Amino acid sequence: MADTAQLKIGDKTYDLPVIEGTEGEKAIDISKLRDQSGYVTLDIGYKNTGATKSAITFLDGEVGILKYRGYPIEQLAEKSTFVEVAYLLIYGDLPSAEQLKNFELEISRHTLVHEDMKKFFDGFPSGSHPMGQLSSLIGALAAFNPASLKQSLSAEEVNLEIIKLIAKMSTIVSWIYKKSLGHPVIYPRNQYDYVTNFMHMTFGQRTEEVEIDPVVVSAMNKLLILHADHEQNCSTSTVRIVGSSDANLYASISAGISALWGPLHGGANQAVIEMLQKIKEDGGDTDKWIAKAKDKNDPFRLMGFGHRVYKNFDPRAKIIKKACDDILEKLGINDETLEIAKKLEEVALHDPYFVERKLYPNVDFYSGIIYTALGFPTDMFTVLFALGRLPGWIAQWKEMKANKEPIGRPRQIYVGATDKNYTDIKNR
Ligand code: CMC
Repeated sequence: MADTAQLKIGDKTYDLPVIEGTEGEKAIDISKLRDQSGYVTLDIGYKNTGATKSAITFLDGEVGILKYRGYPIEQLAEKSTFVEVAYLLIYGDLPSAEQLKNFELEISRHTLVHEDMKKFFDGFPSGSHPMGQLSSLIGALAAFNPASLKQSLSAEEVNLEIIKLIAKMSTIVSWIYKKSLGHPVIYPRNQYDYVTNFMHMTFGQRTEEVEIDPVVVSAMNKLLILHADHEQNCSTSTVRIVGSSDANLYASISAGISALWGPLHGGANQAVIEMLQKIKEDGGDTDKWIAKAKDKNDPFRLMGFGHRVYKNFDPRAKIIKKACDDILEKLGINDETLEIAKKLEEVALHDPYFVERKLYPNVDFYSGIIYTALGFPTDMFTVLFALGRLPGWIAQWKEMKANKEPIGRPRQIYVGATDKNYTDIKNR
């Protein structure tokens, strides 16, 4: 491979370093181009711009490969637990039995949330969206952990904030759900593993012991693992860019949660179920909705289809589709929306519009069906995505800090008005 690329502008030629990643990805380093030539590069939506060098997650969208720290997602989803994957992402490799035990123990020591945080729930109007609550509450954790605001935290201090955040996130997510029902919150029981504890706080009751089905815990582990990281994307890049200003961990993650909320990103799982329900209520004519999705004058898009980087298939969707069939069978659920989803997928996979544009089902096409089967209401889906994505965001934030990356600050090409003079308001 050539180690430089030449860029010719007019009669001048500039040498630009070429770099190669460990999986063979090649990039042209343009970081000095403006100093050398006065030119910046323009790439709206960062469709072809690498913003960092990262050793956390690799994905090849053309082939449909996703690996965390070198481990294929298929193996992790089948054999691992969410907490083990969180350790892998944050600390760089799978833990030994003792490391995992200590990690779980540390997390379990911090699951309680300050009682004053409960007052926030009284302030949110009933029916307010869980994502709005989550981003506010995670941002508010900084106020309850003033030590996290110190400018130079030691590695141990940073680690403590990471552990606290992982521990409190599941408590906060389950409390948001309880608040939506108007029910009292359920406190953590630290003899349970992380996911069982989460399900206990979410679906448990104060009055009687509710047994958490291991089938449900296993499905939940799988969903959280599949969402745990996805290299650079709207929310992760937000976390890194906010963190690059030296904003604290809680503020950075809260910003990532806000970025995830949109229906083109994490909000798609809610949008998929709403779409499937709408199609069902409309009589279930999938051809009609496929035609709407293809019509450029109709704003309707087939939610859960298409991806910025996967142009073959989304490996997460493959795993989740199977998990979806398994869990519905095990729980004895016959879901009409699943039938509609399968019909849509079948039609779209053979329709030239979708084939030509390489639009395939993504992770969110089936996740909502599983969440519904587990008992979650639709507006909780994106919050569950955030719970899963948390270790990835933390790992990316930690890596950005360790690499001492400079503050994120893109350039622009100005295309607005030039040289106007202020006129008095009476003369406008
Ligand atoms: N339904 C119908 N047409 C589509 C769809 C869709 N879901 N997605 C893309 N297209 C068309 C689009 O209209 C465009 O057509 P044309 O070339 O004729 O103008 C072409 O495909 C390329 O689309 P794009 O919007 O330029 O592609 P993008 O890479 O900018 O957007 C996306 C990717 C995921 C935002 C988009 O596919 C989409 O809106 N999908 C639906 C929302 C969704 O499921 N999002 C979840 C993503 S997975 C979870 C995550 O990781 O965040």
